[in-house]
Amino acid sequence: MHDFLGYAPGTAMVVTGSGSGIGEAIALTAGKLGLKVASWDLSPEAAERTAAAIRAAGGDAIACAGDVSDKAVVADAWARTTDAFGAVACLAASAGPPSFGDKDFTSALNLAIDCMRLPTEGWLEQPDAGSRAAIYLSSVQGPRYGAGVPWYTVAKSGIDGYMRSLAAMRPGGIRANAILPDWLRTARTEQYIDATGGDGWETNPMGRVGYAQDSANAAIFLLSPAADYINGISLEVDGGAKLRSMAWMRMWEASKSS
Ligand SMILES: NC(=O)c1ccc[n+]([C@@H]2O[C@H](COP(=O)([O-])OP(=O)(O)OC[C@H]3O[C@@H](n4cnc5c(N)ncnc54)[C@H](O)[C@@H]3O)[C@@H](O)[C@H]2O)c1
Repeated sequence: MHDFLGYAPGTAMVVTGSGSGIGEAIALTAGKLGLKVASWDLSPEAAERTAAAIRAAGGDAIACAGDVSDKAVVADAWARTTDAFGAVACLAASAGPPSFGDKDFTSALNLAIDCMRLPTEGWLEQPDAGSRAAIYLSSVQGPRYGAGVPWYTVAKSGIDGYMRSLAAMRPGGIRANAILPDWLRTARTEQYIDATGGDGWETNPMGRVGYAQDSANAAIFLLSPAADYINGISLEVDGGAKLRSMAWMRMWEASKSS
């Protein structure tokens, strides 16, 4: 797998939101592939847990704790990361606020966008690794579906747009893509998934819910030299769920029983 993906020895990757869920799966997978991993998370314990797991498996990782929507925190994390690893070639931006809970629209929207934008802008002030690839965690809830929490739909659409502006204008030579998961089973979502029927999502053609690793696999590929000509795509990691709407499935079931 390592040879096919083409990551050069010593390639460094920053993963935001690496303490849990999709970010954690990306960081651990990158560590297994021999990349140097900077584990950035709001939670110091979670950031360090992921970094320690990579080191325990023989890899190279550091932890940086703090809010990645805070410019000073991000500047410090970049300084620590480049001190440890030199120029960074890959950024996996997964950190962002959850859609649930009572949130002010404008604050939540700004927070979600800044979690993606500030690490990117900080990266552009760092030494150039010769090539740069980034992935951004959007969601099918943004560019594909409309129903749901309004600020989250707007934020995820905005993140997708931010990715496309980077892909088109290529500041610092960044090659950028987005990952659009549907509901995945992570710490963030499992209580809701369990409340709505576990893994047996009958409208999903794959017959199962997604997992963090499904998105991590897509991220590791899109960040790799093997994906060097893939730029500006919004890749749904949803098992094809959008192909079978709930309304269509209800009509289909009704037609079989009549
Ligand atoms: N889980 C899903 O079903 C799903 C679906 C579509 C999109 N997404 C997106 O994927 C990303 C990751 O989701 P997840 O399910 O893995 O979440 P998660 O809650 O399991 O993990 C998120 C991690 O990000 C960290 N984090 C949150 N805000 C931060 C901040 N401001 N600064 C630094 N770290 C921060 C948290 O501490 C946590 O460790 C999010 O952007 C989310 O919107 C998730």
